[in-house]
Amino acid sequence: MLAVAAVIFYLFAVFGEGRAAPPHLDTPSHHDTDTMAHDAGGKPTSNLANYALQKVLDDASPIFGHFEESSKSDTSIWMKAYPDDTKLVHMNIPGTHDAATWNYSKATQQRLEPIAALNGISEVDPNNYRCQDNPFITMLNDGIRAFDLRYAHDVTNTTLVFWHGIGLQSQTATLDSLLFGFYAWLDAHPSEALFLSFQFEGNSIPNSANDLSVQSLLYASLTSPAAKQYISQTNTLATLGSARGKVTLLRRFDLNLLPSSQSANFPGLHFSPADWGDNPRNNSLVYDAETQAVAHIQDYYSPEVASGASAEEIIGSKFDACTDFFDYAASDAAPDELFWSFASSTKIGNEPPSTPRIQALGNGTELTPEGGVNDRLVEYLKGKQGKRLGIVMFDFYEQPGELLETFLGLSPP
Ligand SMILES: *[C@@H]1O[C@H](CO)[C@@H](O)[C@H](O)[C@H]1NC(C)=O
Ligand SMILES: *[C@@H]1O[C@H](CO)[C@@H](O)[C@H](O)[C@H]1NC(C)=O
Ligand SMILES: *[C@@H]1O[C@H](CO)[C@@H](O)[C@H](O)[C@H]1NC(C)=O
Ligand SMILES: *[C@@H]1O[C@H](CO)[C@@H](O)[C@H](O)[C@H]1NC(C)=O
Repeated sequence: MLAVAAVIFYLFAVFGEGRAAPPHLDTPSHHDTDTMAHDAGGKPTSNLANYALQKVLDDASPIFGHFEESSKSDTSIWMKAYPDDTKLVHMNIPGTHDAATWNYSKATQQRLEPIAALNGISEVDPNNYRCQDNPFITMLNDGIRAFDLRYAHDVTNTTLVFWHGIGLQSQTATLDSLLFGFYAWLDAHPSEALFLSFQFEGNSIPNSANDLSVQSLLYASLTSPAAKQYISQTNTLATLGSARGKVTLLRRFDLNLLPSSQSANFPGLHFSPADWGDNPRNNSLVYDAETQAVAHIQDYYSPEVASGASAEEIIGSKFDACTDFFDYAASDAAPDELFWSFASSTKIGNEPPSTPRIQALGNGTELTPEGGVNDRLVEYLKGKQGKRLGIVMFDFYEQPGELLETFLGLSPP
């Protein structure tokens, strides 16, 4: 893995100052010669670069999905129609909450059981942890531009992998390999701007801690030569033009155990866990100390309802928090500040438990005649035409079909 990464870093360097050519993931053809890298002897090396990239993308595929040269559907390049000088804080950007959980089924859990068992982690109901149904490649092509990613050590404490609580999502799709999926997709879609939120997931393996090893691995991945090329080296939000073809980091982590020479000058917007608040319906924080840029947050993931509440009540509580916050975002009270909210929620401690899927999509017409939060949001969003709601993270974003389409249509270019 390290050798492969080294080969790729070397080849990115060989491609020169500019952006590496878009990956040709099928068998390289002869008319690729103009973009081929050459070794010191003048021998083309791009076949090896492609094979090495393919290997990394294969490792990442349990979470990224199978990379393919995507068709340029309208949604895969929706940002292209917006002018370069559009302020990012004025845009409506759809995202996915707990994005890596899309294939967390009983079958996946059983396949990973021998790994999880190394640390005595026992099986859990996958429905409690699953928040999505589509791989990242589909999310990207559908128009999703913000991803909520929850990392921690793997059970051997050697790499960073993705968890939702004690649910391990993959052993091969490391944080490092997954980044290459995003970079490769950006090469093929240079008009688009991506927002990656990273948060340390506690409660994965026993005694898991956001320790020096975790912070060092994260630092290495996010400051590698490839990361320096693809991750926007800024701490604030400017225009779409400045963010195209790049990843903007949404840092829901501190690097408090690293030397300040490393933690200072680290790229991205800083949402310190200390400032975020627990279950906030409406919180504000400064994400860039230098410009004092402010973000407003709604992350009311666990609706505060009496125990034994019905799915209808729990969904209603979350829906109200969403629409109160959206009304605020749309109100012109803070036109140049960032609004970032979550349409996702869960109440698995309730009796009966309400899973992320029930919250988003309802639990059948008898118990939840108006559906889940996603269903209810469609009608609400239709009344917000022309308004800025900000970055919104969904669970099961593709249902109902009108949801994403309505959201993307809120403020046409
Ligand atoms: C999704 O999970 C199933 C069951 O574990 C597995 O067979 C399939 O390969 C997974 N999909 C991807 C893209 O890894
Ligand atoms: C991983 O790190 C944790 C926290 O430091 C520690 O408790 C645990 O024993 C380590 N596991 C292994 C396999 O080294
Ligand atoms: C959020 O808090 C601000 C004050 O920081 C207030 O002006 C605004 O009305 C609140 N919005 C909601 C939806 O509670
Ligand atoms: C969802 O529906 C199933 C089947 O009707 C029911 O057993 C369960 O209690 C319901 N859960 C909630 C949270 O309404």
